Amino acid sequence: MQIAIDGPASAGKSTIAKLIAKNLNFVYCDTGAMYRAVTLLAKNHKIDYGDVSGILDLMNKHSIKFLNTDKGQDVLLDDVNVSNEIRSEVITNNVSQVSAIKEVREQLVEMQRKLANDANIVMDGRDIGTTVLPDAEVKIFLIASVKVRAERRYKENVERGINTSLKILEDEIEARDYKDSHRKISPLKKAEDAIEVDTSDMSIEQVVNKVSEIVNSKK
Ligand code: CDP
Ligand code: CDP
Repeated sequence: MQIAIDGPASAGKSTIAKLIAKNLNFVYCDTGAMYRAVTLLAKNHKIDYGDVSGILDLMNKHSIKFLNTDKGQDVLLDDVNVSNEIRSEVITNNVSQVSAIKEVREQLVEMQRKLANDANIVMDGRDIGTTVLPDAEVKIFLIASVKVRAERRYKENVERGINTSLKILEDEIEARDYKDSHRKISPLKKAEDAIEVDTSDMSIEQVVNKVSEIVNSKK
């Protein structure tokens, strides 16, 4: 079984996808982490985020691995765990440029499809229901207002000891959504057969229950 969860930044995709995967004992795949890992590779090697051949060369020379863990998924760059590093501000603010590169997407989508062929899977991202797994049995499109999403990010940052302005977070989220939904290849878009869930006024538990209901109805 394939469960695709798409939606804009900070809608709660990975939180919900991880819990659903755990409940069903499915593999969880965070495709955003893959684009973030390639962005980190470019940053570490001082390659411009728009330098297509430079980035492809790095992808050929370095290994990026994804491991399923109790907590979700770890990302290893040349066997070093970079799961925290890929969430940094600089990566978040540049990942949309890297993820718009056609050849980067082709390589990562191939990896994602391989993972989905080998196991029951819950995969979250932007183009899972539209492009990566168009035949997924369950397609969810999670949304929430920009204000709520910025507040969620703000809370996360406070917990990590990072002080950011709510207004800046709102602007960053809007800018990233704009870039992700206006790129040429596989833009962020609700699949025609996806079920939209607006989580603005829902707790994590309520969203998990709602998505579980949808999954059960498709079983
Ligand atoms: O967790 P958050 O919403 O901040 O983002 P993410 O899921 O980690 O994704 C980071 C970025 O990767 C997105 O803003 C997109 O630019 C890109 N991405 C993509 O293009 N396609 C996907 N399937 C997943 C992520
Ligand atoms: O993966 P994505 O960027 O869509 O969002 P996330 O990283 O899973 O969630 C962003 C934050 O929103 C996390 O701190 C969650 O705990 C929180 N949250 C949520 O995901 N869903 C709710 N209904 C309420 C809060």
